[in-house]
Amino acid sequence: MSGVIAVAGLGFTYPGNVAPTLHDVAFNISPGEVFGFLGPSGAGKSTTQRILTGLLTGYTGKVTVLGREIGAWGRDYYERVGVGFESPIAFGGLTLVENLRYFAHLYRGPTRNPLELLERVGLASDANLPAARMSKGMGVRLNVARALIHTPEIIFLDEPTSGLDPVGAEHMMSLISDERNAGRTVIVSTHDMGLAERICDRVAFIVEGCVAQIGVPDQLRRQHGSAAVRLSWPGGQAVFPLMGLADNREFHETLRNKPVQSIHSQEAGLADVFTQLTGRSLT
Ligand SMILES: Nc1ncnc2c1ncn2[C@@H]1O[C@H](COP(=O)(O)OP(=O)(O)OP(=O)(O)O)[C@@H](O)[C@H]1O
Ligand SMILES: [Mg+2]
Repeated sequence: MSGVIAVAGLGFTYPGNVAPTLHDVAFNISPGEVFGFLGPSGAGKSTTQRILTGLLTGYTGKVTVLGREIGAWGRDYYERVGVGFESPIAFGGLTLVENLRYFAHLYRGPTRNPLELLERVGLASDANLPAARMSKGMGVRLNVARALIHTPEIIFLDEPTSGLDPVGAEHMMSLISDERNAGRTVIVSTHDMGLAERICDRVAFIVEGCVAQIGVPDQLRRQHGSAAVRLSWPGGQAVFPLMGLADNREFHETLRNKPVQSIHSQEAGLADVFTQLTGRSLT
């Protein structure tokens, strides 16, 4: 068994539903990867995460984590993995630091210092705030801190930048990168294409319960874009192929003779890849 997570032929139908939510989902995740689930709302990203975290049972197919079928794991599974659910969990009557202390006690192994962890997610000055008074973004950050409290080797995060401002999102990305650099594996569902492009080693686009494409963000962007550069100037623009650009006379003349304002390579953004795969625009 190579990867830390191996999923093959995964299908799932919610009790009471007729149509399956997932059908024939397959992917492998290697140790130390940041792996992203992207895709439209309702596509099945959180359902996949809920199966991987043992929350939903009754699936078909094979889902192996750390060498063992998910259903065969017992309580020790949660000593090895950390889970940040889509809807943050906290005790409203306890302060933020009390919440982390409470969750730390649930684990047998060593846990991180709650105050240091709050500092790491940008909540140090709110340590003594009752959790009921958190804003949405604070709840998301506390949720991630809770997932990390026992230093798990696999971390599942469902929309960890939802409700965060750009600075908060930046912090979250650097936190996730640090976890990866420390050798941990991170599985993240997100609508944040910036996060996916910047910190995911690979992404899987889930569309209508199937994996539409899996790849390295840069490669997907090149595959769905074109190998060209676009020059633009007031009132005009021109596109030149990258191939032979150094010897392209027209390109050099344009650069010399036009008041060029921008030069852009034409690989797609992940948002464009998303649109091409799902037929839905993000804007
Ligand atoms: N508890 C449930 N019972 C029945 N159907 C459900 C339940 N939870 C989710 N679904 C359905 O399963 C499908 C996938 O939902 P899921 O939450 O996995 O989507 P998602 O990709 O995470 O979407 P989002 O980007 O909005 O978080 C949707 O059609 C949803 O209505
Ligand atoms: Mg979801």
